[in-house]
Amino acid sequence: MSLSEQTIQIVKATAPVLAEHGETITRHFYQQMFSQNPELLNIFNATNQKTGRQQAALANAVYAYAANIDNLGALTGAVQRIAHKHASFNILPEQYPIVGKHLLEGCSLNLITDS
Ligand code: HEM
Repeated sequence: MSLSEQTIQIVKATAPVLAEHGETITRHFYQQMFSQNPELLNIFNATNQKTGRQQAALANAVYAYAANIDNLGALTGAVQRIAHKHASFNILPEQYPIVGKHLLEGCSLNLITDS
């Protein structure tokens, strides 16, 4: 499925916001997701949560998609590594909508007041 020109423009417009606030969004994302879906706490590495490594990795990945929306081929290696990691953790298709819901809610944070 190809993206419409309008969707591409909207995604592009998010790149500067993600560059500046990506980790604020992903920190909020994990807090919300774990409070509403505590069963997922078991599959994430608690140390990577504490150090912020996980929040940074997700923020970087989402930013990379937005910044390369015209040239997604540039992400092939990164996407393959991420896919292998999720397959090795046995992440199930039905878990993706949970992540998608909380990620989009994180993006609707009022970042202007979050300085
Ligand atoms: C929109 C979909 C998703 C994206 C973009 C994404 C992105 C990422 C990235 C970038 C990493 C770090 C990879 C690395 O360290 O090299 C990661 C790790 C991980 N992801 Fe995802 N992910 C997604 C969906 C999910 C889902 C649905 C689950 C399960 C509920 C999940 C569970 C994990 C786990 C357990 C790790 C290992 C992190 C750790 O504990 O250190 N992810 N993900």
